[in-house]
Amino acid sequence: MLLMKKQSLIRHFNNIEQLAAAIQLKKHSSVFVLADENTHRFCLPMLTNEINDFHVIKIKSGDANKNITTCQIIWQTLNDNHADRNSLLINLGGGMVCDAGGFAASVYKRGIDFIHIPTTLMAMCDAAIGGKNAINFEDFKNNIGCFQMPKQVLICTEFLKTLPERELKSGIAEIIKHAMLTNDKAILKQLRNNQLSDLDFKSLIKKSVQFKLSIIEKDFKDNSIRKQLNTGHTIGHAIESVFLNHSKNKLLHGEAVAIGLQLELLLSVIQYNFPISKANSIFEILDKWFHYQPLTDNQKTEIFKLLAADKKNNNNKINFTLFADLGKPKIDSYPKIEEIKNVLAAW
Ligand SMILES: NC(=O)c1ccc[n+]([C@@H]2O[C@H](COP(=O)([O-])OP(=O)(O)OC[C@H]3O[C@@H](n4cnc5c(N)ncnc54)[C@H](O)[C@@H]3O)[C@@H](O)[C@H]2O)c1
Ligand SMILES: [Zn+2]
Repeated sequence: MLLMKKQSLIRHFNNIEQLAAAIQLKKHSSVFVLADENTHRFCLPMLTNEINDFHVIKIKSGDANKNITTCQIIWQTLNDNHADRNSLLINLGGGMVCDAGGFAASVYKRGIDFIHIPTTLMAMCDAAIGGKNAINFEDFKNNIGCFQMPKQVLICTEFLKTLPERELKSGIAEIIKHAMLTNDKAILKQLRNNQLSDLDFKSLIKKSVQFKLSIIEKDFKDNSIRKQLNTGHTIGHAIESVFLNHSKNKLLHGEAVAIGLQLELLLSVIQYNFPISKANSIFEILDKWFHYQPLTDNQKTEIFKLLAADKKNNNNKINFTLFADLGKPKIDSYPKIEEIKNVLAAW
């Protein structure tokens, strides 16, 4: 059991029966479970075997629906069912449901309690942890959002049984990111030498959660060391946005981050002499788990425009978290514009 800042409780369970028994329902006047199309089909039945007396809010799946329309559906259903300040929203899903549900709950009647029950690897090891809630708006990922902790985060890897393989692999990008930040050689070795079915997800998730919490306890609002966690995401989010808005090809968050980690590592080699042999070893691990989408010249131009408008920028300089070495992240790095363009062009 782990306590997050402002008393949010993170617990890991071996089965869903135990998880359901841990949901703190009693003090709430009414309970709502938010699920997308897939978690409604695959995960909700597992939970409803164990708890009852709640309203279900079903939303469309996919990051293109992490938007204000989805929030309106959530708020409308809460209103229609007379939710009050003591109501509870349980977000049952991946990062999309947790991010949108967390945001909708945080501002509904100035904030009601919410709980995350993450059902993807991405959400278990990253998105459900740390109290960042957001929706996409216009061309920008996570453009509108807030910092607000869930009351509980309840994790059980049984939910992963129905998750498609590509979605499972997407979460591995964040695990690689965490292992790079902590220079966790054991995790990198496990990811280098094993196939998907041989990975020890429970321990990988626990390590990621522990690391993310250790950062968030020191810097909840992204003013200093939490920026470490943005590594791979400056370029990753820009790529994701381009695919979100203009492409029929689906690109998952982790897949975009995997490209971002590679390109930002190249920038680290240029700016900080990051050891090339270690960069190659990370590229090998990423290449093992991800098959990349090619980027057209038009897409690269759009990516660059989005980079220039990134919410983390400072005085027209583009903000990155690069690395001097594994385990030695350099927050607030501002590589030269030409270098960023060269690295993108080389992809
Ligand atoms: N807030 C944060 O700190 C943070 C961190 C990382 C990522 N994110 C966000 O998380 C999102 C990506 O999360 P994600 O990868 O979980 O995507 P997702 O929530 O879209 O889920 C991926 C797909 O899997 C389906 N699904 C979910 N659980 C399932 C299950 N158990 N069985 C079968 N299908 C299931 C979903 O319906 C969806 O189609 C992005 O929006 C990203 O920006 C946020
Ligand atoms: Zn991410």
